[in-house]
Amino acid sequence: MRDSLEAIDTGSGSAGDGAVVAAALLRWYDRAARVLPWRTGPAARAGGQRPDPYRVWLSEIMLQQTTVASVRAYFHRFTTRWPDIHALAGADDAEVMAEWAGLGYYARARNLIACARAVAAAGGAFPTDCAGLQALPGIGPYTAAAIAAIAFDARETVVDGNVERVTARLFAVTDPLPGAKKRLTALAGTLTPAERPGDFAQAMMDLGATVCTPRAPRCAVCPLQGLCAGHARGIAADLPAKTPKAAKPTRLGTVYMVLRDDGAPLIETRPPRGLLGGMPGFPTTDWTPDAPPPAPPLTADWQLLPGEVRHTFTHFHLQLRVALAHAGPAAAPDRGSFRPGFDPAALPTLMRKCWDHVRAHLSADAG
Ligand code: ADE
Repeated sequence: MRDSLEAIDTGSGSAGDGAVVAAALLRWYDRAARVLPWRTGPAARAGGQRPDPYRVWLSEIMLQQTTVASVRAYFHRFTTRWPDIHALAGADDAEVMAEWAGLGYYARARNLIACARAVAAAGGAFPTDCAGLQALPGIGPYTAAAIAAIAFDARETVVDGNVERVTARLFAVTDPLPGAKKRLTALAGTLTPAERPGDFAQAMMDLGATVCTPRAPRCAVCPLQGLCAGHARGIAADLPAKTPKAAKPTRLGTVYMVLRDDGAPLIETRPPRGLLGGMPGFPTTDWTPDAPPPAPPLTADWQLLPGEVRHTFTHFHLQLRVALAHAGPAAAPDRGSFRPGFDPAALPTLMRKCWDHVRAHLSADAG
């Protein structure tokens, strides 16, 4: 099978010749692929060995909205603790959420658990096609295509931000994103080969991440340089064009940290839907464009700390003032519970910042 693609002369041609592009890119991938823990190595790939669908699925869920660099350590911890779908399906929800803490987009973790249970209940094998994969929780069209291509070598075109950029440059598409998305997806589809579509998808991602980078693309070492219309026209580095995004609004709020005399913090589990859903955190007011009404979880001698905690979500910036109170053993808050020995590593990043803010204040006070 591989001989036919390898026999293609990649010395000349254009992006319009999809087979030539695919052959050049796969040759490059065979020597330059990033070594990533969810991939099979070059020798195994050459022998036709496929990666473990569980690991491919887990990596793709983690990589939604998150960089490879951030995902590595999480992937290692998850697969060490839960090495297969049955182990993850049997895990305690709170333990999975705690391992996910810091990765963000917590709906992904809730869907991860639901998906593991659905696959395990059906015998443990993932569906091999996009339709079957998309019927599972947390798997949309992009992730279904990625899993089908990478784990099962289905001829699916996988279009993430890297692939959009590579494709826009290769074909010198100057229409701006996000409007150009459809066209770029169709053009990327013309490149996807029948042989090794999974490697091809990952090769496009790797090229975008390491050579065809957003700024200062390394065209001199690009395996597609001679096929790239953007390079030929001297506009590669300016593509893809983007329609300017509206500025993110800012929301305001107050977070309430209560420390009981034994050191136990007041922790509540956030409602399952919505931001940081299902994650532990400190009680807060609503987060609103104008200062929201106060909502302390108990009557106490509240101290408003200097400074504030800032955090950016997808659609807004958040500025939280931090209120601190100490409570005696009989304190009865109207929300959450005191958690002796609570591990701050289980907190999502925003709440971790709040915790660090209070700690910094307390140690400055003590010093
Ligand atoms: N981004 C999303 N999926 C990826 C993969 N399989 N390899 C590298 N980067 C990715």
